[in-house]
Amino acid sequence: MDFKGRDVVSINDFTLEEINYILDVAEKMVPAARGEEALELVPGKLLASLFYEPSTRTMLSFETAMKRVGGKVIGFSDVSSTSAVKGETLSDTIKMVEAYADIIVLRHGREGAARMAAEVAEIPVLNAGDGAGQHPTQTLLDLFTMRQELGHLRKKSVALVGDLKYGRTVHSLTYALAKFGVHLHFVAPEALQMPPEVVSHLVKRNSGFSVHEDISEVMGEVDVLYVTRIQKERFPDEEEYHKVAGAFRVDNSSLEGCKKGMIIMHPLPRVDEIAPEVDDTKHARYFQQAFNGVPVRMALLSLLLGADMGVLK
Ligand code: NCD
Repeated sequence: MDFKGRDVVSINDFTLEEINYILDVAEKMVPAARGEEALELVPGKLLASLFYEPSTRTMLSFETAMKRVGGKVIGFSDVSSTSAVKGETLSDTIKMVEAYADIIVLRHGREGAARMAAEVAEIPVLNAGDGAGQHPTQTLLDLFTMRQELGHLRKKSVALVGDLKYGRTVHSLTYALAKFGVHLHFVAPEALQMPPEVVSHLVKRNSGFSVHEDISEVMGEVDVLYVTRIQKERFPDEEEYHKVAGAFRVDNSSLEGCKKGMIIMHPLPRVDEIAPEVDDTKHARYFQQAFNGVPVRMALLSLLLGADMGVLK
């Protein structure tokens, strides 16, 4: 399998076998991700971390990952300090950054921005979220978490809850889970249901899914409850947001009747979709999930930079 020099724009850039391979490599990265051992897989390589939209986990875990495999990081997270405010185009910024770094991670508010950057740059570009488009590296860490907790994914049942329209994490995750043969339940108010292009992809593949407006309809049968934030910043109109804000709140009482081994995931940040009391239940996995961003991104950065993985145990 050859990953060297590739871009990661959409989760569909990977086959099922490639995804499993990345997750296998990520497993080997866990001790170094925890700081228990030091790796020098990409000595002297530079990651350019370009965040045009706010981020905590994605940005910090990419930076941690790059440093944990022996690389270095440059970049920005405050667009107001860059030449974008002077009117520089994204394309020009990418052409220039390409001359400074070996790999680029980009988060941008515009859907398709990562695709454009990948076309402009010769070096690998990783999409860390493009508007309401995709978030493929989040999906890899989500899959890693599910595999870790459930053993395998085949025939499992996953409910995606919340903002399925504007949430990029659930778009990428749906494409990936369909590859794994997972049965999907889309739980959202009608106005925030999965976009038609995602649904038609499932129909074409004959992938099993069902649509719901109430979590209680699926609580008893799912192995994973994947909860998401309503993406306030993507609503064209604040009033529309207020109509659906708080549509779902998972608390201990809503978990009644769930499978014993069901896990609750969330890409974070949460606002009020999961009550803090749920954190203390045996179902909560969202903080573990956030940690998993480090080994998964270590694996991905090393593979794309062509590191010699022979040194891994
Ligand atoms: C998500 C995102 O930015 O799409 N966060 C993340 O990367 N973990 C989810 C969100 O903002 O709601």
